[in-house]
Amino acid sequence: MDVIAICGSPRKGNTEFILKRLLMKAEGAGHKTELVLLREKKIGYCMGCLGCDKSGACPISDDMDAIIASMEKSDLIIFASPNYYNNVSGIMKVFFDRMNVLYGTDKLSGKKVSVIFVGEEVKTIQKAILSVESIANSFGMDIVCSLYLNGKGPRDIETNPESVQKIDDFAKIFLS
Ligand SMILES: Cc1cc2nc3c(=O)[nH]c(=O)nc-3n(C[C@H](O)[C@H](O)[C@H](O)COP(=O)(O)O)c2cc1C
Repeated sequence: MDVIAICGSPRKGNTEFILKRLLMKAEGAGHKTELVLLREKKIGYCMGCLGCDKSGACPISDDMDAIIASMEKSDLIIFASPNYYNNVSGIMKVFFDRMNVLYGTDKLSGKKVSVIFVGEEVKTIQKAILSVESIANSFGMDIVCSLYLNGKGPRDIETNPESVQKIDDFAKIFLS
């Protein structure tokens, strides 16, 4: 299986740690993986021109082209973000908006999706998870499992054995 993980944190922190650990497990199980750190990519804002509706292509040429190509050949896509006001981070939202070039096509339909969030508190996290699941549904993708972990400081999850165990348990689910 080809697994791609999209990391929406603007810092080297919890979200990145979770993905690196999950991908390490996936590789150990013989899967091919790719980690995309959006903070290191050049991705311009969607201009709302809807040119993609007419031509099937985006007039902006940047790192989004390669990420989309990778997603198209993946079997499992992981969308992971810190919880920012019960939604994804800004860079993750810019990324999702640019996926509009695939809207209305079947290029992502049927692909397995896993949604991961990190946040300070659990109370309202479901709203954040639902927002990403709803985007994935718009592209006909199948949500297979979601994970939410508590963390605020950049190393909160890495230094919490209970959280690390939850990641390992989750790896077994999404790789099964
Ligand atoms: C702009 C901003 C908004 C945030 N909003 C929330 C929030 O609404 N709920 C929450 O639980 N945590 C919130 N947080 C805390 C982050 O989700 C938390 O620090 C998380 O661990 C960041 O993940 P990272 O280490 O992968 O960057 C916010 C943090 C920032 C910087």
